[in-house]
Amino acid sequence: MCGIVGAIAERNITAILVEGLKRLEYRGYDSAGVAVLDEAGSVQRRRRVGKVAELQTALADEPLLGKLGIAHTRWATHGAPTEQNAHPHFSTGEVAVVHNGIIENHEVLRTQLKELGYVFTSQTDTEVIAHLLHHTLKALPDLADALKATVKQLHGAYGLAAISVHQPDRLVAARSGSPLVIGLGMGENFLASDQLALRQVTDRFMYLEEGDIAEIRRESVQIWDAAGAPVERESVQYHEGAEAADKGEYRHFMMKEIHEQPTVVQRTLEGRLGQNQVLVQAFGPQAAELFAKVRNVQIVACGTSYHAGMVARYWLEGLAGIPCQVEVASEFRYRKVVVQPNTLFVSISQSGETADTLAALRNGKQLGFLGSLAICNVGISSLVRESDLTLLTQAGPEIGVASTKAFTTQLVALMLLTLSLGQVHGSLEEGVEAQLVAELRRLPTRLGEALAMDTTIERIAELFAEKHHTLFLGRGAQFPVAMEGALKLKEISYIHAEAYPAGELKHGPLALVDKDMPVVTVAPNNELLEKLKSNLQEVRARGGELVVFADEQAQLSNGPGTHVVAMPHIIDALAPILYTIPLQLLSYYVAVLKGTDVDQPRNLAKSVTVE
Ligand code: G6P
Repeated sequence: MCGIVGAIAERNITAILVEGLKRLEYRGYDSAGVAVLDEAGSVQRRRRVGKVAELQTALADEPLLGKLGIAHTRWATHGAPTEQNAHPHFSTGEVAVVHNGIIENHEVLRTQLKELGYVFTSQTDTEVIAHLLHHTLKALPDLADALKATVKQLHGAYGLAAISVHQPDRLVAARSGSPLVIGLGMGENFLASDQLALRQVTDRFMYLEEGDIAEIRRESVQIWDAAGAPVERESVQYHEGAEAADKGEYRHFMMKEIHEQPTVVQRTLEGRLGQNQVLVQAFGPQAAELFAKVRNVQIVACGTSYHAGMVARYWLEGLAGIPCQVEVASEFRYRKVVVQPNTLFVSISQSGETADTLAALRNGKQLGFLGSLAICNVGISSLVRESDLTLLTQAGPEIGVASTKAFTTQLVALMLLTLSLGQVHGSLEEGVEAQLVAELRRLPTRLGEALAMDTTIERIAELFAEKHHTLFLGRGAQFPVAMEGALKLKEISYIHAEAYPAGELKHGPLALVDKDMPVVTVAPNNELLEKLKSNLQEVRARGGELVVFADEQAQLSNGPGTHVVAMPHIIDALAPILYTIPLQLLSYYVAVLKGTDVDQPRNLAKSVTVE
């Protein structure tokens, strides 16, 4: 989603800003822009619709030089993706603003500002902030003071940065509902919505908290909290390896990340397994005490993370006997929820910054949950900071918009949760925990075997390249896996894909099945297999072409219109993790055949920080 970069230095900062934008490209955007205070003391900008590369071309044609500037990648919310709507937004050529988030009262403010004589050149909510800040500066000439007064009038979510021609020695920023981080340099400082944007210039960061206002100068950083009191925010040194920086031998980040799964699953297990048990303390020192009180679990998440939650429901109820509900965060947050006593609130999120998931957690805190657990891939995220307990997935930075390794590591984390709750409550069947711990240790090898089916799946992808619709079927815990498979396919290949629990086939979707509607099925060797085989017959009888990912022992064979891909044998409980792999590969290869933008599919964002 939208990205912010800002810089103040003694050197020309345009290239730093643009490099920062390039590093944020993975988040998804549709236009980009940069504004720099030039030597003559006026603020100049270049904006372009499309990729950052277009902006680079514009800058090559008409360079911008300066030591203070802000830049932005925009993901359109208010107003189409046009150059006029791209950030930075100006007010009278004196103030420039970039903004992530949504200002809900922008219409009222726009009317008031028009009455004051301000002329609007875009349809965005952001331009309102630029004019409001400009107007406020008339009474409060200090930029930080003016920003403090300005944000008091904004309703909604924002991470924003501003510069003024009248105070060329500073950049100001405000955070409320949309993350911002300051990058600390030597005699120069930076700002971004994600530290990844600044890794080329610093490894020292200071995270703004909700309600913070910051004034960033070359030699100093001053921060005020939501109450207006000066505060110190801890600075952290970032030591992550350079693994996310390039695609290595792969053509796309998505493929690289698919292939990282054995390693990152291994990493997510590390230090969390005893000889025959899961180490409950992996969830934090108070986990055992809290888990002992848990009678129900409420899971809340969005997108792929929601699918992980749906799998977990089968595990928590089926293995640990703990009642579990799962809901998408955007529904949960606006619904009147009845909370059963002793319910643990579990949020799942790769980024830990998804607006709806965060809002659901915040609402949840008012609703009397027993406590909150975040299953998250980013240790410094808002979700982690605001939850009682955390289990970090160790997927490493995920760059492809379509989530892959984050999902499988979430599943591993959720299996650890299931076994921990079952262990604390003594509700697991005899021997199950020891068996699953042993199988979890073997899981990275199994995932490697599934990845080795790569070329088989590449061939099967050809069946889909010319199709417009697909159906994914699964039963039990494989139903959410089918949902995730369908989501992957639609996200990156733009083929309409729907998932159904196989038993629902007759209740509607069968009407759609014909030779142009391939059906993908995940069929591990479990007690539902026989029922699934009947569902497959129903599809074949209507001329539907079948692709079946089935256990090598499932006794399903190829036939006309039926393509069976034999999967390595795995214990049923872990099958959802393994069967995810071929579905990821399938969507990847279909997208490559169709020539779509695999890593940055149209209209989508990696981290959805607005509602
Ligand atoms: C976006 C991403 C998805 C992701 C979802 C939830 O839609 O494109 O890949 O699953 O957000 O994100 P989260 O970071 O909360 O897991």
